[in-house]
Amino acid sequence: MRKQLIETYLNKLITDEGLLYDAMRYSLCGGGKRLRPQLAMMAAAAMGGREEDALPYGAALECIHTYSLIHDDLPCMDDDDLRRGRPTCHKQFDEATAVLAGDALLTLAFSVAADAPLSLAQNLAAVRVLSEAAGAYGMVQGQVLDMKLTEGADTTSILEMYRYKTGALLRAAVSLGSIAAGGRGDELDDFSKNLGVAFQLQDDILDIVGDSVVLGKPVHSDIKNDKHTVVSVIGLEEARKWVRTYTDAAILALAPLGAAGDALAALAQSLVEREM
Ligand code: IPE
Ligand code: IPE
Ligand code: MG
Ligand code: MG
Ligand code: MG
Repeated sequence: MRKQLIETYLNKLITDEGLLYDAMRYSLCGGGKRLRPQLAMMAAAAMGGREEDALPYGAALECIHTYSLIHDDLPCMDDDDLRRGRPTCHKQFDEATAVLAGDALLTLAFSVAADAPLSLAQNLAAVRVLSEAAGAYGMVQGQVLDMKLTEGADTTSILEMYRYKTGALLRAAVSLGSIAAGGRGDELDDFSKNLGVAFQLQDDILDIVGDSVVLGKPVHSDIKNDKHTVVSVIGLEEARKWVRTYTDAAILALAPLGAAGDALAALAQSLVEREM
């Protein structure tokens, strides 16, 4: 039901025909777990608001996330050919179109959030959260750190990179939910920050032990690109323990919410065993 609302909303965002719009739609409307919009909606409910109020903000964030994946897959970055079970944007179209479709999804996000049927103050706060989480102090910074990590990088610097490249957008998801519910935006930071680290740890584990068909993306991309991950430093078994540790910390941070935090806790728990 929640996922269906998200799909319906995303399907209505880009309606024009033509190369750019086709490429944007291809990447945005072709699968994906929709974790970030779901988190936004669930966080809104956990904060005492309505899930539907967070849907436009969650959709805006999904545009930014999708753009980050299109660019992440480019030959100059991870050089991957499969995403969400289909050829990557630059394989289906071409590199220039993929770069531009990513640019256009990023910028579309801000008008989607600005046009949400909430107060102007809420929409302004949401645009600010999206901007900070996406850019030079968020995901993009993380991608730079990801490229820069060298042989011998320790887990502290790798975890720092995770906090930016993945944690920033997951934190934004929860923050947007809070804003949609009339909150400040930072109440659930301890939850979302720990969840972000657990999520990237599991992503790196799945890059080694996952099934490409189930994942919808290639496995062994990190090894191919000589990426330094927590798994490459401490090994699979220890990394699995870290996923549980960070997930437990995330769930513990929900305690002040009481029963209102149960759904977010269950989602966090389900991600520990995820295979996609
Ligand atoms: C993949 O994110 C990129 C990471 C930050 C690990 P997801 O695993 O949420 O990808 P989709 O949206 O389901 O395709
Ligand atoms: C990507 O990390 C994080 C982004 C900001 C896109 P990865 O490069 O590990 O993500 P996947 O495995 O390609 O989805
Ligand atoms: Mg990458
Ligand atoms: Mg990648
Ligand atoms: Mg990965």
